[in-house]
Amino acid sequence: MDGFRRHRRWRAHANLRRLVREHAWQVDDLVYPVFVREGLNGKEEIAAMPGVYHFGLDAFRREVAELAELGIPAIILFGIPADKDEWSTSAYREDGIVQQAVRAAKAEHPDLVVMTDVCLCQYNPAGHCGVVRDGKIVNDESLTLLAKTAVSHAQAGADVVAPSDMMDGRVAAIRQALDAHGWTDVAILSYAVKYASAFYGPFREAAHSAPAFGDRRSYQMDPANAREALREAASDVEEGADALMVKPGLPYLDVLRSLREAFPLPLAAYHVSAEYSMVKAAAEKGWIDERSVVEETLLAFKRAGADFILTYHAKEAAKWVKASS
Ligand code: PBG
Ligand code: ZN
Repeated sequence: MDGFRRHRRWRAHANLRRLVREHAWQVDDLVYPVFVREGLNGKEEIAAMPGVYHFGLDAFRREVAELAELGIPAIILFGIPADKDEWSTSAYREDGIVQQAVRAAKAEHPDLVVMTDVCLCQYNPAGHCGVVRDGKIVNDESLTLLAKTAVSHAQAGADVVAPSDMMDGRVAAIRQALDAHGWTDVAILSYAVKYASAFYGPFREAAHSAPAFGDRRSYQMDPANAREALREAASDVEEGADALMVKPGLPYLDVLRSLREAFPLPLAAYHVSAEYSMVKAAAEKGWIDERSVVEETLLAFKRAGADFILTYHAKEAAKWVKASS
C-alpha cells in the first residue's frame, strides 16, 4: 500500500477509457445555423467566418440537401432581408426570406427540423431587437411584432421558433399567438439566457444587424450575472418555453450547468460566431489542431449539461464522423 489512490488505472488503455467515459457528443446533438439572404444569387462567404456563407434561395436548397445527407438533424435560420423599415415588416411578411427558406427546406426535406431565429434586429434600420422610440427599445410594443414574426414562421412550416430578442414576456406573447392561430404543436426554444457579449461580433457583420446607435445592454444580460440567469429562465419556463438556451457558449458553461440542475427542460448551448472565428483563425495559422479543438469543445458542452448545441462547426463535425465510420 503506497498511501494514495491510483486514478490512472482506468486510463491505461483505450478500451479501459471507453468503459468509464461519462459523456460523448454525436451528430444527433448538432444544430447548424444558416444565413439566407434575400435577392442573392448563389452563395457568398462571410469574411470573418471562413466556411460560413450567405445563401440565396437556390444555393440554400442545395445546402439543405447536403446537410440532410450528412445526417444533421436540425438547422436554425437567420434572414438577411432586402429592405428594412421602422416596423420590421420584412420579419413577418409571408414572402419574407426566412418564410421562403422554411417552405423550401420543408418541401424537400420534411424530416429536417427547421428552427427559426425570431428577432427584429436584422429587419429595422436601428439594428435593435425591439421597436425603437425616442432612443429607447420599448418592450411591450415589440412583443406584438415578435409574435407576428413567430406566427409567420409557423405558417411557413417551422418546427421550432427561437426568440433571441430578450424582451420580457415574449415567450408568453409568442405562445399565445401561436395557439390562437392553431400552431399548438410548434415548439418555442427560448434564448432564455443571452448575454450582452463581444462574442457576437462576426455574426453582426454576417447578419447586417449591428446596432446603429448604442448597444444591447439595456435588454441583453450583464455578463457579470449568474443568479439572474435562473430568474430569466424561470420566467420563460412559466411562460411556456419548451426548451431553454444559454448564449454564448464556452465562457458561460457555469451558467449552462446551473440551468441544467434547476430545470428539467431540454437545454441548448449556442457556440457563437466569435468562438467559431477564433478557432478558424488559430487553425489557419497552424497554432491549433482544429478537429481536436472542436471535438473537445462539443464534448465540453455535453459535459456541462447541453442536450443540443448550435454551432457553425456542425457541418464539418458531421463530415468528420461520416469519414471515420
Ligand atoms: C440577434 C442574434 C444575435 C445572435 C443570434 N441572434 C446577435 C446579437 O444579439 O447581437 C448571435 C449569434 C452569433 O454570434 O453567432 N438577435
Ligand atoms: Zn436581435
